[in-house]
Amino acid sequence: MSKDTAIYDNPTFLANYLDLPRQQQGHDGAPEWPILMAMVGTVREERVLDLGCGLGWFAHWAVENSAQHVDVLDVSNKMIEKAKGMTASLPKRIDFRVQDISSRDLGVSPGSYNLVYSSLAFHHLSTAAFKRLLAQVNSALVHGGRLVFSVEHPIYTAPGYDQFVKVDLPGRHGADLIWPLNRYGYEGLRETNWLGGEVKKYHRTMTTYFESLLEAGFLVSGFREYMATGEDLEKNPQWQGALQRPMFLLLQAENTARTQPQEG
Ligand SMILES: C[S@@+](CC[C@H](N)C(=O)[O-])C[C@H]1O[C@@H](n2cnc3c(N)ncnc32)[C@H](O)[C@@H]1O
Repeated sequence: MSKDTAIYDNPTFLANYLDLPRQQQGHDGAPEWPILMAMVGTVREERVLDLGCGLGWFAHWAVENSAQHVDVLDVSNKMIEKAKGMTASLPKRIDFRVQDISSRDLGVSPGSYNLVYSSLAFHHLSTAAFKRLLAQVNSALVHGGRLVFSVEHPIYTAPGYDQFVKVDLPGRHGADLIWPLNRYGYEGLRETNWLGGEVKKYHRTMTTYFESLLEAGFLVSGFREYMATGEDLEKNPQWQGALQRPMFLLLQAENTARTQPQEG
């Protein structure tokens, strides 16, 4: 495992990570989930691949919603171990594999999935690795198969300082918090301090996300930025910041390549 991705196996970081509402409550603790679920649509009888599965909440949901089979990959041994535990009582339709998704060969066969899904993992990949992955994902999807993923929003990943720094305007007492934005055009590595660990993320612009999908042969069919709704804020006032700057970028894309008919 590379130094960049070992953080999820670090005991201190992992203990803090497991305390997050979205890890404790699964999709109920993930405010962007309803948007992702609408992009995912039905998974009934589908073959699904989840990249950077974490605790396996999505695989759990997919099996409960009648997916035919789910392959889950994550670079972290601990995450795969926990995902196995969390889905142990479900029908045996999930295969788990410790796999670095930035590698040149993901080990997936062409045309083998209807849906490739990933939540909040791709911003851990450099742009070169992200592009390499997209090419493999495009080939792994059937014609019309879809890729649905979320990443930290480029506005969130851009700052060269700590991305959590915020500024209160004089006299406004938190009513108009400002997150200083810089280095938007400087793509690349950001070293952040999160949950007591040094977490490596990669910033890329909105343009790079879209162009990378198009270059890999995808048709972009859905695009949303997660911003908290009034209902979200009633349940969780701490998401107020997500109304002031988008936290997540959510994208849906389709494989439109047709297999060439055999000659003769
Ligand atoms: C923020 S967590 C998200 C987990 C899960 N998808 C979710 O939404 O709850 C990011 C996950 O991506 C995994 N990850 C990061 N870099 C990876 C890589 N290069 N290959 C495979 N998994 C990776 C981490 O181990 C971690 O489980």
